[in-house]
Amino acid sequence: MTPNAPEFTTVATTTELPPGQRIVVEWGQHWVALFNVDGRLYAIEDICPHDDGPLAEGELTGCVIACPRHGAQFDITNGNVLRAPALANVPAYHVRVQGDEVQIAPMARS
Ligand code: FES
Repeated sequence: MTPNAPEFTTVATTTELPPGQRIVVEWGQHWVALFNVDGRLYAIEDICPHDDGPLAEGELTGCVIACPRHGAQFDITNGNVLRAPALANVPAYHVRVQGDEVQIAPMARS
């Protein structure tokens, strides 16, 4: 492994996350929302940076999740905030599948 390669951790199995589904998993001290959008997997922190809303419970349109509390929107592919009232991005994770294991690693932000 190269020095800067992300370290992946298994958090689910592929059978737990079929296309069109989303689940919330515990990763260390974080709650992470995993999404399967047409076979592509994405992961973001499940806590809205505006006021701790549970993002995985929001409405998903394409790759945009709307916070169920006050409607802030985020791009689940990278965690970028797209609409107020949230002003900060939400942490995002790399996702990969190894066999039937779904693994995540924190996505570095510049
Ligand atoms: S808690 Fe998410 S928009 Fe307010």
